[in-house]
Amino acid sequence: MTKLKVQILKKDSSYPILIERGLLGRLDEIKEFEGYSQIGILSDHNIPDLFLDKVYKSLKKINSKVTKIIITPGETNKNLNTINEIYQKLSDISFDRKSLLVCLGGGVVGDMGGFVASTYMRGIDLVQIPTTLLAHVDSSVGGKTGFDFDNKKNLIGTFYQPKMVIIDLMVLTTLPRREFLQGYAEVLKYALICDKDFWEFLKENNNILINPKHPEFFDKVRQVIYKCCQIKSDIVTRDEEEKGGERKLLNFGHTYGHAIESYSLNTDNPLFHGEAVAIGMLYSARISKEAGLSDLEIDEIKAVIESYELPIEFNFGTNSNLSDINKKLDKLMRNDKKNINGKISWILLKKIGSAKLKQ
Ligand SMILES: NC(=O)c1ccc[n+]([C@@H]2O[C@H](COP(=O)([O-])OP(=O)(O)OC[C@H]3O[C@@H](n4cnc5c(N)ncnc54)[C@H](O)[C@@H]3O)[C@@H](O)[C@H]2O)c1
Repeated sequence: MTKLKVQILKKDSSYPILIERGLLGRLDEIKEFEGYSQIGILSDHNIPDLFLDKVYKSLKKINSKVTKIIITPGETNKNLNTINEIYQKLSDISFDRKSLLVCLGGGVVGDMGGFVASTYMRGIDLVQIPTTLLAHVDSSVGGKTGFDFDNKKNLIGTFYQPKMVIIDLMVLTTLPRREFLQGYAEVLKYALICDKDFWEFLKENNNILINPKHPEFFDKVRQVIYKCCQIKSDIVTRDEEEKGGERKLLNFGHTYGHAIESYSLNTDNPLFHGEAVAIGMLYSARISKEAGLSDLEIDEIKAVIESYELPIEFNFGTNSNLSDINKKLDKLMRNDKKNINGKISWILLKKIGSAKLKQ
């Protein structure tokens, strides 16, 4: 089993991330699940029953009170109504301070479950079992929780660290193809901002990494997830609550990415988050020439993004008014909550594997 320890220094807390195939059916072997008054499993309707049953049965072996709490999937349900529904359910089953909430799902379940755990009875224990590639490499590490409010993404939230993160690689085999591939945008991002060797690895192994049926898939994807969790946890440890500049580097590709994602949601061609980040990364790479990135490197970034079957541009349609679109995108970027004093934050690449913040 691959085990990585995330050390959050400032709060003197740390938690393990376990990565292995087949972990879901063996949770009873993990001592951290012992000793709770009861356990709630938060999941959504799209998570295959196979995984939910495994988690339920293995936890039942060590705790007689295990309850499934199943919510409606999707970003449109990442809201106060769903949070309310979860609180109500926990109250109905008399969840107390000694109870444990386990989140089995993608970033939506993880973010909302994390928020509930951080606020219910002023904080109860939380274990994250992420089931999408994006959640493996991104949302499950770092302790950001939250939900959307007033049409604004993640407007309400907390920082709250789980007791443990469990990554069973088998969950990747049931993910819809587009959901699976979009996770690689965040993976490529980590390599681009801080690790040239990792970039080379991703370049060399793209054929294996996008094919879950390849005999070497699980071995390679385990290395990728481990590396991403390590990079993110190192950055988060140094800058847990985004006060310094370092955590901002993780936003590479997200300034334009968020704008194009929001724009696309009102068209017939809505982008997934990772797809928008892929487009945003190439955009940021192009404007990184002023920071030192060469034309050759920009071409290479474009080719690698495409080799992961991710988009490099958004199709605005032939009849679109470009000046109108530019104004809308500009407005969206100016409203980004990462901006400081009204100035847009950009993460630029000095070269592949090295980034800097520019306001
Ligand atoms: N907290 C953070 O640091 C952080 C970082 C990045 C993203 N996020 C949040 O994560 C969310 C996106 O997460 P996501 O991409 O995982 O989306 P998601 O949770 O909506 O999952 C995508 C879809 O796949 C389904 N699904 C999940 N796992 C599956 C599996 N193994 N097999 C089949 N279907 C499965 C889900 O039910 C859902 O329909 C956004 O709300 C974003 O804001 C949070």
